[in-house]
Amino acid sequence: MSKGEKWVQPDPERTNWYWPNETAKARAWVSDPAVYEKAAADPESFWAERAEELDWFERWSKVYEDAPYEFKWFSGGKLNLSHNSIDRHVKAGKGDKIALIWEPEPADEEGRVLTYKELLAEVSKLANALKQMGVAKGDRVGIYLPMVPEAIIAMQAVVRIGAVHSVVFSAFSAEALRDRMLDCGAKVLITADGYYRRGKPIPLKPNADRALAGTQVQKVLVVKRSGSDVPMESGRDVWYHEAVKGASETCPPEPMDAEDLAFILYTSGTTGKPKGVMHTTGGYAVHAYATSKWDFNLHENDIHWCTADVGWITGHTYINYGPLMNGVTTLVYEGTPDYPDFGRMWQVIEKHKVTVYYTAPTAIRMHVKWGEEWPEKYNLSTLRVLGTVGEPINEEAWLWYFNHIGGGRCPIVDTWWQTETGATCVQALPGMGPFIPTVAGRPFPGIRAAIVDAGGNEVARGEGGYLVLQPPFPPGLLRGLYGDVEKYRGTYFSEYGPGLYFTRDGARMDEMGNIRITGRVDDVMNVAGHRLATAEVEDALTQHALVSEVAVVSRPDEVKGEVPIAFLLLKKGAQPSDGLKKELIKTVDQHIGPTARPAEIYFVDDVPKTRSGKIMRRVLKALVRGEPVGDVATLRNPESVEELKQAVGYKS
Ligand code: WTA
Repeated sequence: MSKGEKWVQPDPERTNWYWPNETAKARAWVSDPAVYEKAAADPESFWAERAEELDWFERWSKVYEDAPYEFKWFSGGKLNLSHNSIDRHVKAGKGDKIALIWEPEPADEEGRVLTYKELLAEVSKLANALKQMGVAKGDRVGIYLPMVPEAIIAMQAVVRIGAVHSVVFSAFSAEALRDRMLDCGAKVLITADGYYRRGKPIPLKPNADRALAGTQVQKVLVVKRSGSDVPMESGRDVWYHEAVKGASETCPPEPMDAEDLAFILYTSGTTGKPKGVMHTTGGYAVHAYATSKWDFNLHENDIHWCTADVGWITGHTYINYGPLMNGVTTLVYEGTPDYPDFGRMWQVIEKHKVTVYYTAPTAIRMHVKWGEEWPEKYNLSTLRVLGTVGEPINEEAWLWYFNHIGGGRCPIVDTWWQTETGATCVQALPGMGPFIPTVAGRPFPGIRAAIVDAGGNEVARGEGGYLVLQPPFPPGLLRGLYGDVEKYRGTYFSEYGPGLYFTRDGARMDEMGNIRITGRVDDVMNVAGHRLATAEVEDALTQHALVSEVAVVSRPDEVKGEVPIAFLLLKKGAQPSDGLKKELIKTVDQHIGPTARPAEIYFVDDVPKTRSGKIMRRVLKALVRGEPVGDVATLRNPESVEELKQAVGYKS
């Protein structure tokens, strides 16, 4: 059921263009496009105004400083993310307002609701427990938790004492966890016994146990969630509930310098090794706060539901910090969208009267497949703003979302951003529009973006090119890659120098300045909303004893967006078989996690290579996509292409 207040109206001339109506404009924080011009004329003042809305222990002395590769926001300012997320509201008399609603997967289990006051107590207790374990300012704490309230509490507690969290997606394997813990040198890990997936308890702690040998992790806090039997290593492992029992509910937040490290989040680049993206405190806080407020038009009574996992940047910024800094209610759902049936998400929206729903195109495409009879069973009239993130959205999915979830009443705010940007950078604001399928929108006020050619020159409107960010760089943009200055400079600032941040996305801009993202231009895939490098999957497959060489390319997929396809050369004497395929999938599970499983594995005798021996992934990509293969005459082994055409059933 989709009746409810109307927030958009169609453009009289352009099909599938929508604009905010008067109701939407009246409620919006911003509805006058002049805000774009004003911010463009003086971005520093724009961001300083946004920053004024947060609590600072000490005011900044300089809004923005730029030096090659090193830029700073709010220098000299002191603040704390947890204080701004929680204490600020309690002090303002909103302690009894609900901060967090937790919806467990088992539909008959009672969830949990935490007011801001209760959240403050829980966060402070854990913060004190962490201090007791020896965690001090600057120390790294790993968080490997499912979607439970403790995930939010843990992040908040860590930043409260000035420590640095590194959250690892709970569906990542033990090995993936180990790599990340080793890289950031975490001292403590917070994990859980397990969690629920499609009605069954799934163990998590055993993964952590396998991951920790050889790392610097000295203590492990274990949240009891699934109740499954887990071995506890004496001297190392402590039950979370026991650690916080009796801990004081008061823990003063650590005043952090605006440029102090807040958290590290690993993400996929073009190599096999994930990179530790570093976000600092002040710029991230302001960017996360301001975009949450304006993108979703958050007000006092909003119930905000972002369906991402806390293990991704979207979960960090739009489940945790952004909504909480805005003092609204954030919803955390433990499970999958198809349990106990395909209507679960809509049932949760009805049950909790959700007003803002933020999800990924891959999820929407899944719902399209399941059919509109599911949302039709529920009252979705409380919805006001719909958001998407993570990959380009196709027109069909956009329209389905617009019509069947939003009832044609709600704007779709298609937000472009990256782990690196910390918060959204391109979108159409709910009081501003236009909302157009496949088009994200304009750069957020105060953010400068352009579409350039390979030489860094701006291309004409309508022409395709590369999306870059220009200084002053967004406040939330990464400040580095943990322990790797060279890689940081090389990955983002080598194409065009330190004056332009290269997003590695292709894009085009229309006459009005709306940006359409066309997708990654490097070897990073978006698999069901999960960012993954082809090189990571290759590295994982190479670990199998019988594999001699491997090339992974992506293929578009109707539901998942993209999926990895693997071409494998086996070692001499090894025979291809279904059994071997299964083993290879297991290898991928072990090294990364099930999200990285190839959709197809081809055993081949050869892959196309250049004269210098580099695999021509471009040719493989064309083959799996049924696109023209192009000139293969310069290959060292052009004959390999014919064999591959047969293998993949290529028809041009
Ligand atoms: C892609 C997710 C099109 C893009 C927040 C980017 C998008 C990568 C959009 C970052 C969008 C994200 N439209 N593409 N609205 N949002 N992307 O780091 O390719 O997991 O570079 O951050 O996702 O993925 P990440």
